Amino acid sequence: MNQATNPNVVLYPDAESMAIHAARHIARNIEEAIRKRGKAMVALAGGTTPEKTYQQLAINDFGIDWSHVYLFLSDERFVPAEDPRSNFNLIQRVLLNSVAIPLDHVFPVPTDERTAAEAAGSYTKTLRKEFEATSKPPRFDLILLGMGNDGHTASLFPGASSLAVEDQWVVAAPPGSLPPPVERITFTYPLLNAAREIVFLVSGEQKAPVLKTVLEGNALPETLPAAGVHPTDGVLTWIVDNAAAERTYSPS
Ligand code: 6PG
Repeated sequence: MNQATNPNVVLYPDAESMAIHAARHIARNIEEAIRKRGKAMVALAGGTTPEKTYQQLAINDFGIDWSHVYLFLSDERFVPAEDPRSNFNLIQRVLLNSVAIPLDHVFPVPTDERTAAEAAGSYTKTLRKEFEATSKPPRFDLILLGMGNDGHTASLFPGASSLAVEDQWVVAAPPGSLPPPVERITFTYPLLNAAREIVFLVSGEQKAPVLKTVLEGNALPETLPAAGVHPTDGVLTWIVDNAAAERTYSPS
């Protein structure tokens, strides 16, 4: 298999073993960031795949010093935080209610703003403040991402104008073709690709065709946005299960 820009692809038998190892991988990244820079700046993924990994982080002590972790979200649905479709709602229930992270280290997207665009603008200001960033995109230690069956990632959807954004870190995005059909707020490629490490979590046979195309390295970001994720000066890691990788590694 010709792997695009040589990402690390780590394969596990099933979603459960993938989640345990993904949690360990996340813990190692956080520990190294704290050791080297005194804190870990992490953006979590939405969707359903990461839930098992967040559960593992909540129930196992991987030695994470949560008092030095700062958590953000790589995308969000423009719904109230108590809405079951909210990515933050899931992360709070499954992870944040179980770990000793200071409340002022957790940065949900402000979906109580009047519009998705205003929420994106506010989040950008939060990033600028917390990273003491000026013109260059903030450099996360770790950004977690999922991938939809259509190849979208974060809330960067096929054919969307957000794919071409070069001068903004966070933008509002219209609903994608996959549920839920609500407006979104999403990191853009400049912010994503500034990260030290990006980890994709991909599970399930329904992702297999798109994962094969993306990993082969000839997919266009316009049609499969996950293919546009290439850290400029960082590591790209794919943590996948056998079901998602069945097309990638099957002899054909
Ligand atoms: C979202 C996610 C989105 C997700 C993919 C995969 O807000 O929906 O951030 O990018 O990662 O749609 O979702 P699943 O993990 O549920 O398949």
